[in-house]
Amino acid sequence: MNSLIKVTNLNKTFYFQKKKLNILRNINIDIKKGEMVALLGPSGSGKSTFLHMIGLLDKPTSGQIYFQEKITNKMNENEKDQIRRKNISIIYQQNNLLNDFTSLENVSIAMISANQNKKLSITKSTKILNKVGLNSRLEHFPSDLSGGEQQRVAIARAFVNEPNLILADEPTGSLDQKTAKEIFSLFLKLKSQKRTIIYATHNRELANKADYKLLINNGSIKRLNA
Ligand SMILES: Nc1ncnc2c1ncn2[C@@H]1O[C@H](COP(=O)(O)OP(=O)(O)OP(=O)(O)O)[C@@H](O)[C@H]1O
Ligand SMILES: [Mg+2]
Repeated sequence: MNSLIKVTNLNKTFYFQKKKLNILRNINIDIKKGEMVALLGPSGSGKSTFLHMIGLLDKPTSGQIYFQEKITNKMNENEKDQIRRKNISIIYQQNNLLNDFTSLENVSIAMISANQNKKLSITKSTKILNKVGLNSRLEHFPSDLSGGEQQRVAIARAFVNEPNLILADEPTGSLDQKTAKEIFSLFLKLKSQKRTIIYATHNRELANKADYKLLINNGSIKRLNA
């Protein structure tokens, strides 16, 4: 009950120079609504790969991915796009902001393109940028922001639509501990609204704030209870 993302018998292989790389092997996982999950594992273990698949941006080599108990494998791009737009926000490891747009525009566009009223989008985006400490950087372009500031714009953009699922790929990688903690309090607030957050991290302290951890190692994923 209340399954948000369920993965069964999932395998992911890549080919590189004709060599087969088994990145994920026979993964079975059920992530429930409202859970906050930390994704751990050494560099190259498959964290980003896993997040991209459950964000429906990449396909497993074999196995099933269910979103809200519906199988996604046979959905066309349009159907997956619908699910993503309504439910999922991704904070990428490389934050991929739009370079020709200011902080405020980068965030408000996410709302406007979800058919929200423009004025409301700007008000709400301003508010959330304040919350991540960027009130004096609203008109800056990504190239005029520090790495950590860019990351915070990307976080604000992911939060502004209050999605059911946030996938965050090392969202606090370029942030100092204090700022990272402030960002985390936003995560916790979303969790209290029954949103699901899955975040990859190398930071032990932040990983400990999760309900439980998933450790990827040598192709398998092990659940570690907090
Ligand atoms: N398109 C691809 N073709 C071949 N190999 C790939 C491809 N994409 C990823 N890989 C390999 O898959 C492995 C897992 O990559 P992934 O980006 O998921 O790791 P990660 O756990 O996110 O690492 P990090 O902590 O460094 O971000 C890596 O060894 C990478 O080289
Ligand atoms: Mg990664």
